Amino acid sequence: MEDNNPISPSGSQTQNPDGNSPSDNDVSVDALARKVQESLSLAKRHKFWETQPVGQFKDLGDSSLPEGPIEPPTPLSEVKQEPYNLPNLYEWITCDMDSDEMCSEVYNLLSNNYVEDDENMFRFNYSKEFLRWALRPPGYFKSWHIGVRAKSSKKLVAFITGVPARIRTRDSVVNMAEINFLCVHKKLRSKRLAPVMIKEVTRRVHLENIWQAAYTAGVVLPTPISTCQYWHRSLNPKKLIDVGFSRLGARMTMSRTIKLYKLPDSTATPGFRKMEPHDVPAVTRLLRKYLSQFLVAPDFDEDDVEHWLLPKVGVVDSYLVESPETHEITDFCSFYTLPSSILGNQNYSTLKAAYSYYNVSTTTPLLQLMNDALIVAKQKDYDVFNALDVMQNESFLKELKFGPGDGKLHYYLYNYRINHIMRPSELGLVLL
Ligand SMILES: CC(C)(COP(=O)(O)OP(=O)(O)OC[C@H]1O[C@@H](n2cnc3c(N)ncnc32)[C@H](O)[C@@H]1OP(=O)(O)O)[C@@H](O)C(=O)NCCC(=O)NCCS
Repeated sequence: MEDNNPISPSGSQTQNPDGNSPSDNDVSVDALARKVQESLSLAKRHKFWETQPVGQFKDLGDSSLPEGPIEPPTPLSEVKQEPYNLPNLYEWITCDMDSDEMCSEVYNLLSNNYVEDDENMFRFNYSKEFLRWALRPPGYFKSWHIGVRAKSSKKLVAFITGVPARIRTRDSVVNMAEINFLCVHKKLRSKRLAPVMIKEVTRRVHLENIWQAAYTAGVVLPTPISTCQYWHRSLNPKKLIDVGFSRLGARMTMSRTIKLYKLPDSTATPGFRKMEPHDVPAVTRLLRKYLSQFLVAPDFDEDDVEHWLLPKVGVVDSYLVESPETHEITDFCSFYTLPSSILGNQNYSTLKAAYSYYNVSTTTPLLQLMNDALIVAKQKDYDVFNALDVMQNESFLKELKFGPGDGKLHYYLYNYRINHIMRPSELGLVLL
C-alpha cells in the first residue's frame, strides 16, 4: 500500500476544535495533488494486471459490459497442477499456522516488512493471535497460506494468503477468496516477485473450484470497485501528537486538545454488554438483515459470526444492546485490534489501534452506539479508533470527532465486473 495509509495520517490530521482537517486551502491543494497522482497512475501501464481478468481502466464507464464473472471457470483438469516457477534460490512452502514456530516466522516477516505509512513512521504489527484468527475461518484451506523461503538459509522472504468467503454482490452470492497479507521482504522488492505470488495463490484458489476474489490495497490498480477513506478518532491525543501520528491544531493547546477528545467513563446505552456465545443466532439474524441493504457484503452464517465476531481477547471485540424489557438484541458494534509499531521513537514503541468492523443499529442511534464503542475502546487503553467511510459510517464520523486520514483504501474484485464505481456507503464489506 502506498499512501493508503490506514496507519497514519501523519501531518494530515490537524486537530481543530471542530474535528475537521486543515484549512480549506490545504485541503484543495491536497485534493489537487491527489487527483494529479491518480490520473498519472491511471495512465501508468500495469504489465501484470493488464493480463488478468479484472476490470481494465480502458473499460471504465462502459456500461454495456455485463456485470458478473469476466471469464468462465475452466475445467479443474485444465488448472495448472504444478506451482509457478520461482527464481532458483527460492522455494514455495505452505505455512502451517497451527504451528507456533511457523506462526512466529510469519509474524516476524510481517512485523519487519509489511505496510508502512508514506513517511515510514509506523508499520502494521498484526499479532500472532490475530494472524491465526484471520487465516483460519470456517472451511479455510491450509494450501492458501503461501510462503517463499530462501533455499539455503530457509528464511521466509515472502507471503500471501487467501481465505474462503461467500460474498454477495447485488443478488448473487459468490464463493470467493479474500486475499490478504501480500508481503515481499524489503531486500527483494521490485523484482516482480509479487505477480508470481498472486498467480500462485490464484492457481491454488482455482484448484478448490473458486474463481473470484476480493482484496484491498492502498495502491491504484486496475480497477477499484470503490475507493474508501480512513478516519481516525483520537483517544489518547497526547501520545498521538508525541509520536507524530497527529498534530496540534492551529490555536490549540495540549490541554484543550485533551479536553476536546475526553469521553465519559462509562457507556450510556442501557443493556449495552459484551457479546457472548449464546448471542450468535440473534447477532447473525441482525447482521444478515442489516447487510442486505449493501451492494457488496459478506453472506455470514452462524459459523462465520461465531468465528469473526465472537470476542477474542486482543483480536476482536463485540458489544450488543439487549433490551432490558424484551431481552431482544437490537444493536451491535465491533472492532478489531491492529497495533502499529512506532519506528524510531525514543519513548513509545507501539500504537494501539482499534478498527471499526461491523456495526448494526436498529433501536439505539448509530451515533450513540459508536460513542459507546469509543468509550469501551478508551477503557481498554486504545490510542486511536479508526473507521472507513463504508456502510453508514459517514453518519457519525464528523460528529464523533473523527478526522480524515490522508490515504485511500481501494477495494477490488478479481474476475468479477461491477458496472459502476460504488460509493463507499454502498459497500458492506470490511477486510482485515
Ligand atoms: C506489495 C509488495 C509485495 C509488492 O512487491 P514489489 O517488490 O514492490 O513489486 P514487484 O516488482 O514484485 O511487482 C510489481 C507488480 O505488483 C503489483 N502490486 C504492487 N502492490 C500490489 C498490491 N498491494 N496488490 C496487488 N498488486 C500489487 C504492481 O502493481 C505491479 O504490477 P503491474 O506492473 O501490473 O502494475 C511489496 O511492496 C511489499 O511487501 N510492500 C509492503 C507490504 C504491502 O504493502 N503489502 C500489500 C498490502 S495491500
